[in-house]
Amino acid sequence: MSLQIFRTKHITSDNDIDYGLKRCLSTWDLAFLGIGAIIGTGIFVLTGIAAATQSGPAVVVSFIIAGFACTFAALSYAELASAVGGCGSAYGYSYAAFGEMLAWIIGWDLLLEYGISVAAVANGWSGYFSNALSAIGMPLPEALTKAPKLGGLINLPASAIILVLMVLLIIGVKQSAKANNAMVCVKLVTISVFIAIAAFNVNPANWHPFMPFGWFQSLPDGKTSGILAGASIVFFAYVGFDAVSTAAEEAENPQRDLPVGIVASLVFCTVIYIIVSGLLTGVVPYTDLNVSSPVAHALKLIGFTGASALISTGVIAGLTTVMLVLYYALTRIIFAMSRDGLLSSFFSEVNHKTKTPVRVIVLCGVIMALVAGFMPLGDLAELVNIGTLAAFVLVCLGVIVLRITKPEMARPFRTPFSPLFPMLGMLSCGALMAFLPTLTWLRFIIWLTIGLIIYFVYSIHHSKLSRVNELA
Ligand code: ALA
Repeated sequence: MSLQIFRTKHITSDNDIDYGLKRCLSTWDLAFLGIGAIIGTGIFVLTGIAAATQSGPAVVVSFIIAGFACTFAALSYAELASAVGGCGSAYGYSYAAFGEMLAWIIGWDLLLEYGISVAAVANGWSGYFSNALSAIGMPLPEALTKAPKLGGLINLPASAIILVLMVLLIIGVKQSAKANNAMVCVKLVTISVFIAIAAFNVNPANWHPFMPFGWFQSLPDGKTSGILAGASIVFFAYVGFDAVSTAAEEAENPQRDLPVGIVASLVFCTVIYIIVSGLLTGVVPYTDLNVSSPVAHALKLIGFTGASALISTGVIAGLTTVMLVLYYALTRIIFAMSRDGLLSSFFSEVNHKTKTPVRVIVLCGVIMALVAGFMPLGDLAELVNIGTLAAFVLVCLGVIVLRITKPEMARPFRTPFSPLFPMLGMLSCGALMAFLPTLTWLRFIIWLTIGLIIYFVYSIHHSKLSRVNELA
């Protein structure tokens, strides 16, 4: 047993192996995929909540801190994506570096990250969508726009949008990438409009006091506050750059394009976040931002009602791309785990007409639609962050381990200043995990425990690696 859980997968340059998926994504598709996944609820919704309740105007510092942690992790991702490859992302890299059990745990963790992210973003989407319907005089009944915990029956728009995306992903990956690219353009125009208006309406008095909640406080109810706690929340805004690495088997030239796609999209989004969060807290007092659509709300407060409506529309398109890419990434990770035998082979069948894993897409779509309909945004986002940060810590460690155990491996992209940068990545991501509330830790541990039970009951016995060993 001890040998089984540490068995590692051989690293093969499997770029030429045909698993049935179609290699059709260019460098631009990948960079847009990254931007599509990254800019979303984090900047359009959580910035307001974090500014009002945790960081104050210093939310911009929270963004910078989280951005640093992500940059170290992104460089590690880029190295492993170019050297190890495969659509399993951190799961696949862990399989090569640490062995099967840890790989399973990280794969299980990624299912949480991506699955819950889609549901969380669907909640943010629903907030802007419902506001837009009200603005044109067709409001939905309130009971149909809120989760039961918030006094409603079901968040219907949140569930419905996931089912629409399910159909899009079934139709095909190139079509999805095209739709994604168009919506990313709309999202970038939206942000430009906001920046152009906000830049001329800043009142520097709004930046005082700059740090009303200090650096970090642990509150009696188990919650946390301060710039560092804010950083561990707005970290959600960066979730998604890692999703680019799950497209390895559908990229035209993964070894060259994946590192570029990952690093370029992250750097671009970090700059945007610093500008937008600085301006948002500059145009209105941070205390006004604790609402479900803070960017549109801020413009309305300073008298730009028309632009506010335009921004809402753009955000609706923008959040759609986030869900689309994260949903896509989720299905590809399950696909990889199933192909390795750790999940049932039922999930790895590719439909010969659409060339997409239809069963996984439908199953994930239905489950996420239910979660999105019945659970509120805040709890979901914290859970996503802890799961993602754990994956980042392991990816950074993976770079260090593989440099020692497999020094001869070809590395088309090398993380600079290794092992310093990967170590800084582990430290900074680990620290952000520590600033999350106790309840989030508890939920995360429960999720991992369930994962371990499944591993020992099912996966360890069905792993393809064990069959290879039996035959050998
Ligand atoms: N980074 C993504 C967002 O902010 C998940 O919506």
